[in-house]
Amino acid sequence: MKNSLTCKLLFLILTIACKIETQVKCLEFDFPTFEESNDSDLIRDNSYIVLGAIQVTPDIRGSLTNHAGRALYKKPFKLWNKDKKATFNTTFVINISNQTNPGGEGLAFVLTPETTAPQNSSGMWLGLVNETTNRTLGSKIVAVEFDTRKSHPDDLDGNHVALNVNNINSVVQESLSGRGIKIDSGNDFTAHVRYDGNNISVYVSRNNSEVYNQRNLVFSRAIDLSASLPETVYVGFTASTSSYTELNCVRSWKFEGLEIDGDGNMLWLWIIVPTVCLVVIGAILGLLFLRSRSRSGETSPEIEAELDNCATNPQKFKLRELKRATGNFSHENKLGQGGFGMVFKGKWEGRDIAVKRVSEKSHQGKQEFISEITTIGSLNHRNLVKLLGWCYERKEYLLVYEYMPNGSLDRYIFLGDKSRTNLTWETRKNIIRGLSQALEYLHNGCDKRILHRDIKASNVMLDSDFNAKLGDFGLARMIQQSEMTHHSTKEIAGTPGYMAPETFLNGRATVETDVYAFGVLMLEVVSGKKPSYVLDKENQSNYNNSIVNWLWELYRNGNIMDAADPRMGSSFNVEEMKSVLLLGLACCHPNPNQRPSMRTVLKVLTGETSPPDVPTERPAFVWPAMPPSFSDVDYSLTGSQIDSLTVLTGR
Ligand SMILES: *[C@@H]1O[C@H](CO)[C@@H](O)[C@H](O)[C@H]1NC(C)=O
Ligand SMILES: *[C@@H]1O[C@H](CO)[C@@H](O)[C@H](O)[C@H]1NC(C)=O
Ligand SMILES: *[C@@H]1O[C@H](CO)[C@@H](O)[C@H](O)[C@H]1NC(C)=O
Ligand SMILES: *[C@@H]1O[C@H](CO)[C@@H](O)[C@H](O)[C@H]1NC(C)=O
Ligand SMILES: *[C@@H]1O[C@H](CO)[C@@H](O)[C@H](O)[C@H]1NC(C)=O
Ligand SMILES: *[C@@H]1O[C@H](CO)[C@@H](O)[C@H](O)[C@H]1NC(C)=O
Ligand SMILES: *[C@@H]1O[C@H](CO)[C@@H](O)[C@H](O)[C@H]1NC(C)=O
Ligand SMILES: *[C@@H]1O[C@H](CO)[C@@H](O)[C@H](O)[C@H]1NC(C)=O
Ligand SMILES: *[C@@H]1O[C@H](CO)[C@@H](O)[C@H](O)[C@H]1NC(C)=O
Repeated sequence: MKNSLTCKLLFLILTIACKIETQVKCLEFDFPTFEESNDSDLIRDNSYIVLGAIQVTPDIRGSLTNHAGRALYKKPFKLWNKDKKATFNTTFVINISNQTNPGGEGLAFVLTPETTAPQNSSGMWLGLVNETTNRTLGSKIVAVEFDTRKSHPDDLDGNHVALNVNNINSVVQESLSGRGIKIDSGNDFTAHVRYDGNNISVYVSRNNSEVYNQRNLVFSRAIDLSASLPETVYVGFTASTSSYTELNCVRSWKFEGLEIDGDGNMLWLWIIVPTVCLVVIGAILGLLFLRSRSRSGETSPEIEAELDNCATNPQKFKLRELKRATGNFSHENKLGQGGFGMVFKGKWEGRDIAVKRVSEKSHQGKQEFISEITTIGSLNHRNLVKLLGWCYERKEYLLVYEYMPNGSLDRYIFLGDKSRTNLTWETRKNIIRGLSQALEYLHNGCDKRILHRDIKASNVMLDSDFNAKLGDFGLARMIQQSEMTHHSTKEIAGTPGYMAPETFLNGRATVETDVYAFGVLMLEVVSGKKPSYVLDKENQSNYNNSIVNWLWELYRNGNIMDAADPRMGSSFNVEEMKSVLLLGLACCHPNPNQRPSMRTVLKVLTGETSPPDVPTERPAFVWPAMPPSFSDVDYSLTGSQIDSLTVLTGR
């Protein structure tokens, strides 16, 4: 652990040193594809990373009209100062597919100091300027546009490349029609833009090979960038749509910038950086050495520091106390196996508690531990399992909860288990309503939106009156800036059977994926069937064998009430149950855009509104579609949080 800390620090110092160095020397990056984690490498305004590409004008709730967006590289590019100038090469692959005929409006590679698109810059303005800034030259932009619609009499045609300097009128334009390229055809093509200090040159090719080749040159134009742009600019893309629409995607992007005529600064840095590094490394090693001699290693300062920031509410327990409470984690006190460890019953200060011992083997253990404490630790809701405290000692991660006498919901609802109490319709309704309140609270009711990410029957606990409480926040994530770290999107979090179809494509957790899982849970509670209600056991993950599909079939054939758990006999209100089943189906709509928000779900359950319309034929899953959390008013967040929404990826 000490060694790994040293390594981390060394690595940090080296990266900082390298950064200082490269910033002076050049700006260079390469996105062979765009991953969720690259979100933090970009400054995005109304543009999103979806399926390996930047959608510069996003597909929000299926509405593509009248958007203007931009996506810029996070670090600025030093274009010039009084005694030097920069040059650059950049190559990118574009895929624009028209959604109307013709498509509209186009995409541009841009150099600009402005990180946001001007107001009303959709349509013919390509997200570059608007009517005001075009006229007043209020926007400093130099852009290479790929225009897909003849939106202005001066436009050559609906398929041209052009150079724009500080306004939307082009100083040079060339059609691509003669080159066998149709910009909005939905086929990839490669563009290369190069500035050698005097000329800007644009090359295009239908494929990725040899784009920088004389025969691919579209135009070359002399321009002094220092006359049109400030010293420092951002580089990236803008795009727009009007009532003519298209998906404007950038699939890969490579950029190399070089300064020419460097001054003496570099030499100075070459001496200073290594010296500072050496001193700092020395100091850290010394410090570590001293610490290693004085520390007993009982608790982890790292974890405590992390928890101190956020958790004043759940108290810190001593390992000794918890051992006494649970009879030294005795076998008799074992309640079950939770997501990431075993749960024991205990008695502490005359009160029943449940203690979760996070498995040492689970390498995610520490992350789950911290997630639980930071997400639910400070929350208080009738339908959330209350976290009373935590303990980290001798590499043991322990979480202390209120005790739930009736255990978890999965023990009651599944048909096979005859020995258990049969839940009445009233109880089931109460469970569903309680859970929807908990989830609505997590999504919309606390300071920071929280996604549970693992809603399922075994994570729902029942108190002595069979009130439902949502527990196990090991996978939960809070939406906040500091979460913008590099999560891998490859590992999908969640439980099969409860996972929304889009999860398998983008691995992203959203409010809609929580709603989907909740929908599955509702159907389960009413029908008493497992989520992957399968006839052939081999195909557990086959979507077509899921409870959702089974129910949709019943619905299509007009027999939705056949889904009712036979154990309830006929002691239920038909209209109520039908409404819950339809609501469950609506939550499980294959298209995330069509799912109701938790707020709506709650309104339906309390009878304020009727369930959303559900098509009798199960709709096909359509992709790409933007996760709609970005636009739904119900979900509105404050400005700065919106940027960080996409951090919610799997682990
Ligand atoms: C994009 O994200 C990947 C995966 O996290 C990372 O390895 C890569 O360096 C990022 N690309 C850039 C240009 O930052
Ligand atoms: C751009 O590419 C050319 C040839 O591939 C190379 O000679 C030049 O140095 C590059 N310029 C920059 C700024 O990277
Ligand atoms: C896209 O454009 C083509 C012509 O280039 C047209 O045939 C097609 O219908 C358009 N697509 C849509 C969805 O309008
Ligand atoms: C153009 O954008 C600027 C800056 O965003 C804004 O102040 C101005 O009102 C906009 N003009 C129009 C016509 O929307
Ligand atoms: C500019 O945008 C604002 C708000 O975004 C809108 O109210 C206004 O009508 C727009 N003006 C024009 C000329 O489009
Ligand atoms: C944009 O501005 C330029 C000059 O500032 C002007 O010539 C041109 O007509 C304007 N374009 C539009 C579409 O208003
Ligand atoms: C370009 O995008 C369209 C629509 O998003 C997609 O159907 C097509 O497969 C993409 N082209 C390539 C080469 O991936
Ligand atoms: C790549 O595209 C160019 C034209 O843009 C064409 O001449 C060349 O044959 C293509 N190469 C391959 C490997 O498809
Ligand atoms: C630069 O652009 C001018 C036209 O503006 C052209 O005559 C010249 O050949 C270009 N130079 C290069 C190196 O492309």
